[in-house]
Amino acid sequence: MFQALPDLPADAVLALAEACRNDPRRDKIDLSVGVYRNDNGVTPVLSAVKAAEHLLVEGQDTKSYVSPLGDTKFVSLIRELAIGNIEVDRLGGVQTPGGGGAVRLACEVIKLAAPFSRIFVGLPTWGNHIPIFEAVGLEIGTYTYYDVISQTLRFDEMLSSLKSARRGDIVLLHATCHNPSGTDLSLDQWRAIAQLVEERGLIPLIDFAYQGFGDGLEQDREGLEIVLSSVSEAFVAYSCSKNFGLYRERTGALFVYGTNPVSVGRTVQAMAALARVNWSMPPDHGAAVVGTILSNTALRQDWLRELTTMRERILKIRAAVGRGMPEFSQLGAQKGMFSTLPLHSATIDRLRKDDAIYIVGNGRINLAGLTTDDVPRFVDSVRRAV
Ligand code: LMR
Repeated sequence: MFQALPDLPADAVLALAEACRNDPRRDKIDLSVGVYRNDNGVTPVLSAVKAAEHLLVEGQDTKSYVSPLGDTKFVSLIRELAIGNIEVDRLGGVQTPGGGGAVRLACEVIKLAAPFSRIFVGLPTWGNHIPIFEAVGLEIGTYTYYDVISQTLRFDEMLSSLKSARRGDIVLLHATCHNPSGTDLSLDQWRAIAQLVEERGLIPLIDFAYQGFGDGLEQDREGLEIVLSSVSEAFVAYSCSKNFGLYRERTGALFVYGTNPVSVGRTVQAMAALARVNWSMPPDHGAAVVGTILSNTALRQDWLRELTTMRERILKIRAAVGRGMPEFSQLGAQKGMFSTLPLHSATIDRLRKDDAIYIVGNGRINLAGLTTDDVPRFVDSVRRAV
């Protein structure tokens, strides 16, 4: 049997991160996988997380099962954080293993409810979106969201492609800090998308993985609020990996937004049943940590401070890189961890081999991977290479 297995490619970003880990050069610069690093190049455990973990170790009195729905207190706290108080009776949610698990679960629900719906994906996108859609067997429609060569958002193309979508098709949207371009829709563009989606009866799947890394917690959900306040149905896939620094704890949630409590309840029931046959129940620890932080005033304040520190450091690095490379004029104005540079693959290879600078093959750089001291060498190497 095993001989019959096809060769499945490794995830490009994770493989690059692994190659960088194995690179013995001391001055290597890892801009591959999307993790925050501080100015010492370390991905820290947030102090609010550490404090919550201490409280959990002391107070937790059972390791018995949760349920396929996960930690319902966590889900309701994340709902408030991510979605605010928009029509709460039209919303339901379950805890998932990370944001990737939330995207997967949304696709499973779509496949069950509307197997012939297509999912429209703007390109470029997170490297795991399309593999997840393919794994579930959804038909995929693509359009250019961002043109890497000219460094511009292709909003008109996005609108005209979405006009070819049929009622019941799904539209994948990035809530904030677009991965990999760092280029978000303006609020007016969100309004235009919300109107088109509602007019054509499309269903948004909003991937919300970077709340707090763009402009701030509330500002980063404005686009999502615009969409939810005008559509009939939507999904929101949420990740706590970045904003709580809980990457390996696989902490996320999937929300469904429906027309009435009955259809929402039925969807949540389907989500629980699909979770049960996929991962049975989500891991508890990360959700318990987030629940502890968000329901404790002092820990919540600590976390907000740390989140602000992370965002401001990324902004500082982004501004320094933008100043150093004025030919990439958009870079300074983009949001979140990522930007995508218009680099040839030969240039990316050369930067890796000659300068130990690890950039993803599509030109994506994780600015949070640069320390202040790295910036001049990074800027010089890229400018020399291009
Ligand atoms: C990334 O895009 O690098 C991150 O979201 C990590 C991942 O799982 O791909």
